Amino acid sequence: MHYSRPNLNPRTARKPAHVAIIMDGNGRWAQARGLPRFEGHRRGVEAVRRAVRSAIEHNVQFLTIYSFSSENWSRPPEEVAMLMGLLKRFIRNDLAELNANGVKVRIIGERDNLAPDIVALIDEAEMLTSGNRGLTLTVAFNYGARQEIVEAARRLAIDVRDGRLDAQAIGQDDLADRLDTAGLPDPDLVIRTSGEMRLSNFLLWQTAYAEFVFLPILWPDFDDAAFVSALDQYAARERRFGALVEPAAVKSAS
Ligand code: IPE
Ligand code: IPE
Ligand code: MG
Repeated sequence: MHYSRPNLNPRTARKPAHVAIIMDGNGRWAQARGLPRFEGHRRGVEAVRRAVRSAIEHNVQFLTIYSFSSENWSRPPEEVAMLMGLLKRFIRNDLAELNANGVKVRIIGERDNLAPDIVALIDEAEMLTSGNRGLTLTVAFNYGARQEIVEAARRLAIDVRDGRLDAQAIGQDDLADRLDTAGLPDPDLVIRTSGEMRLSNFLLWQTAYAEFVFLPILWPDFDDAAFVSALDQYAARERRFGALVEPAAVKSAS
């Protein structure tokens, strides 16, 4: 079964099934208060907890959060270490509660260059919650969309080389099924905080037809009101997927 295509019925676009968030502005939040950047990241974790609660409350089925990009390794080593430590602490402190709330945790991104203790925690989080049927929380950690697509292309090439796949028959689903996000529906709504308007190498393939909402607040200030504001903006959008608006809708309007 393939979930990779967007929902093609514009009438059901009112509520997003999958919300993806680029959590941005922790550093500026701290800077504005004369605090060290790490304080912004620490408060950012509290905003993650609020986002998870909001997603559950508003019946969003899939929440994906961008928490460390492949490019974030270029930050000072102390900040990188702090961000690694925060992921570990988040899993250690919050996993039991997430599990109790039926949340299914999934981590996407490269694992090869992560410390063994982080990989062990990621595996534990995924294993413990794999049977849960509530919100799917996907954490993009050490994630970069171009690397993900290259890796999927490599897997396709290997499958062709080994005779498991006919190169002529390769379709969109064959690539989508080899991405880290295989099995997840494409995001309907992408939210980015902090006022920046770019993807920063996040879910390039999967956001082909996503709606984008840019919030002018910094991530540590993200709360349910901000979530609702993004949902409201999404509900007012008209998703077309290249087609025309529904004939029924046009008829009733004339
Ligand atoms: C988002 O906040 C967190 C990560 C990218 C890890 P930033 O750390 O990017 O904060 P700004 O953009 O410098 O304000
Ligand atoms: C994107 O934010 C990455 C995450 C939110 C994890 P950045 O702050 O790293 O992005 P740029 O550098 O402003 O594009
Ligand atoms: Mg930033």
